[in-house]
Amino acid sequence: MAEKVISDKHAMRRIKLHIQGLDENIQGGIPEGHVTLVSGAAGTMKSSVCFNALYHEAVAGKNGVYISLEQSAESLVNHMINMDYDMRRINLIMVKDLSELKTRVAELQDKSLGSLIVVDIGTIRKEIHDVNTDNNKSWLNVIKNVIRKVHAEAGCSLFVLDSLSALYVLSRFENPRIELFYIFEFLRDLQITSFLISEMPLDGSKYSEYEIEDFLADGIIMIRLTPFRRQVVREISVVKMRATACNNDIFSLEFRNGQFQALYGGQNPLL
Ligand SMILES: Nc1ncnc2c1ncn2[C@@H]1O[C@H](COP(=O)(O)OP(=O)(O)O)[C@@H](O)[C@H]1O
Ligand SMILES: [Mg+2]
Repeated sequence: MAEKVISDKHAMRRIKLHIQGLDENIQGGIPEGHVTLVSGAAGTMKSSVCFNALYHEAVAGKNGVYISLEQSAESLVNHMINMDYDMRRINLIMVKDLSELKTRVAELQDKSLGSLIVVDIGTIRKEIHDVNTDNNKSWLNVIKNVIRKVHAEAGCSLFVLDSLSALYVLSRFENPRIELFYIFEFLRDLQITSFLISEMPLDGSKYSEYEIEDFLADGIIMIRLTPFRRQVVREISVVKMRATACNNDIFSLEFRNGQFQALYGGQNPLL
């Protein structure tokens, strides 16, 4: 099941981030099956960047699952519609009751479109009373079961966890080093390309809560807000990407004409 050795470098399959100017700088995309941390402070557009990747992959026919722990599915989808994403180009499935998942997937009319399943754990959490929240592992198990299910039943090959930081609040890990190791192993064994969102302090002093995530992850993408005189610019950089000749320069991240763009890599932006 786990990662296999490739015959040559061109055999490495990659998933595009669909950020113009950045994919070109990471050999076309993230190696399939890799687990990538997406780190940044609030408002840096981490959720949007991850949704953008799954959306465009769904337009291209691939299925993905976006698990939201803090923001409701409606709030996330409304944000994306406001950014002009056309949800008619994909099968958008919003799940608030896990028992419905199988039928919702089976009912899909237009199978030529890829699906984006948004699972809103926040709502599920309010409705499920029998999950013992004193048991630290229960929410992690709910999430793992959702991933297993959508992988097996809906053929999801892409996964976003929004966010790892919210998972820490829900499941107070007793031994984060060991528990995190098994989460990463679980995702790699499934070979599901994963984006784990990490909410970081504004000063960007670290990429993840326990810092062990940094070396467990195959990749780290950092987004930050940088004040420049009286303007604030968003900046993106690929800090680490295993099995990839990547340009680690800092790029300006802009959203223009319905498209994410990474600009002025390694140069001073023209402000
Ligand atoms: N149409 C838009 N174009 C560009 N930026 C937008 C647009 N709509 C919202 N935003 C920005 O997106 C930010 C929120 O993005 P989000 O992905 O939720 O961030 P994060 O997940 O990092 O907190 C808002 O602070 C706002 O500045
Ligand atoms: Mg967010």
